[in-house]
Parts: sequence; C-alpha cells; structure tokens
Amino acid sequence: MEIQLWRTVLLPYEQAVDELIIKFRHIVKDYRSRNMHSPIEQVSGRVKSISSILEKMHRKGISMEKMEEEVEDIAGIRVICQFEEDIDIVVGLVKNRSDMQIKSEKDYLSHMKESGYRSYHVIIYYTVETTYGPKKLQAELQIRTMAMDFWATIEHSLQYKYKGDMPPHVAERLIRAADAINALDQEMSSVRGEIINAQNSSQLQSNIVREILLCIENLYKVTSEREVRKIQDEFLRVFATNDMAHLERFHRELDIIAEGYRIQSLK
Ligand code: GTP
Ligand code: MG
Repeated sequence: MEIQLWRTVLLPYEQAVDELIIKFRHIVKDYRSRNMHSPIEQVSGRVKSISSILEKMHRKGISMEKMEEEVEDIAGIRVICQFEEDIDIVVGLVKNRSDMQIKSEKDYLSHMKESGYRSYHVIIYYTVETTYGPKKLQAELQIRTMAMDFWATIEHSLQYKYKGDMPPHVAERLIRAADAINALDQEMSSVRGEIINAQNSSQLQSNIVREILLCIENLYKVTSEREVRKIQDEFLRVFATNDMAHLERFHRELDIIAEGYRIQSLK
C-alpha cells in the first residue's frame, strides 16, 4: 500500500466511529426518555493514528496486506458505565443488534491483566455504506466503569511517560490502585439499587417539568393570558412543595385542561 492511500483507507473507519458513537448515544437517550437508568453513561471513539497502526504492525509482525484484518482496533469505541453490572447489559444490547456482529470477546473483568487493567473488550464487524458501496470492517469496543476508566487513563499516561520501562515501585502502586478501584466498584454495586432509584426519580421529575412547561406554552395559543398565568402560578406552587406525587397529579390535570381546549378549538 502506498503512503498516499492512508487517507482513503481510514475514511470508512472514521465513518464507522461517527456512526457507532451516534448509535450508542441514542441508546442513552432512549433509556433516559423512558425515565430509566441508562447502562451507558458516556461514549467516545477514535480512529487509531497512522503512527500507532504502524507501531502495532511492527510489534506484531503484521504485513500491509493483512493490516485491516489483523489490526482490529483501527476503529475504537469506548463505552463508560456507572456500575459493573451495566457492562453485561451493554454487551447484551450489542449481541441483540443486527448491525453489529460479534467476532470475539476479551473478559479482563474476571481476568484482570497483570498491569491491573480491567475492561470488557468486544471486537465487532460493522458495515458502513460508502460512496463505493458497502464496506464491512472491524471495530473494538472497550466497555468499562467510570472507575476502571480513571485507572486506565492514569496508567496509560504513566506507560507513555516510562515508554514500557515502568519502575517496579510505580507498577506496584498501580496494582494497589487497581485493587482500590475494584473495591470501589464493588461498593458502588452494593448501593446500585438505591442510586438508580434516586436517578430515576430525578429524571422523571425533569421530564415531567419539561412536559408541563411545554403544555403551558401551548395553552398560550388557545386561552387568555390571565388563565395561563393562573396555571403557571399553580405550577410554581406545586413545584415548590417538592412532592413528586403532587407534581404528577398536576401534570395529569393539566393534560385534561389542555385536551379540553384542543377539543374546543376543533369545533
Ligand atoms: P494492543 O496491541 O495494545 O492493542 O493489544 P491487543 O490488540 O493484544 O489487545 P488487548 O486486549 O491487550 O488491548 C487492547 C487495548 O486495551 C489496548 O490498545 C489498550 O487501549 C487497552 N489496554 C490493554 N491493556 C492495557 C493496560 O494494561 N493499560 C491500559 N491503560 N490500557 C490497556
Ligand atoms: Mg489496541
């Protein structure tokens, strides 16, 4: 492969990363719009730099012809979860999709790497539609908790600093930090149910408030300003009570009022 062709070769990978990020972000949106805890907290992605691709090919003795087949992480997606339990849910979601086909999995959760690294890796096949037709390529999904991500980020910078020659006392510290991260994830898991309940009700509240305000805004078009102001004052009063049941009741009543106006305006 000539050097000028890199850009063309990498373009579909860029498209794949963009598309995959959007797809995972929509999963988050979907959960949140249903007032549910999203197993995905955050998604990011990158196309491997040419220099990292060359370094990996050199390290693993991969030829130019075999590059796309054997460098499985040219497209890389990182999925960050709040809880360790969420990782399994994300893997399940990926397995159920028809646009992502799993090639292989690496479980560094139950088998922590020697460095202390923990994550769940999945290599998928993913097809992008390009100007020249469909192209099936591979992408690496790294699925981990926020705590695991914190550790991996710090360790990665240290690896970079010491360029593969990490002093033993630093490596030891990192292993100890990895154990602490693991303990933190276990602690968080033990209160997962409670945290999720709290998150769900705050999500529910913000969705209800949004709907109420949209409804009040629409009422402006069909009724008098005085009437709307009365409803708005009532909303502010209910909101100040900080009582979800009260807010939900107000929402239902407002729906009925709005429906009444809609029927009137259709007459
Ligand atoms: P690479 O050649 O490094 O890509 O490894 P691999 O293709 O043999 O696969 P592996 O599952 O070991 O690693 C894939 C990716 O996981 C790496 O590119 C890193 O992003 C991440 N990773 C693996 N091990 C470590 C580690 O010890 N520390 C950190 N920070 N990241 C790691
Ligand atoms: Mg890699």
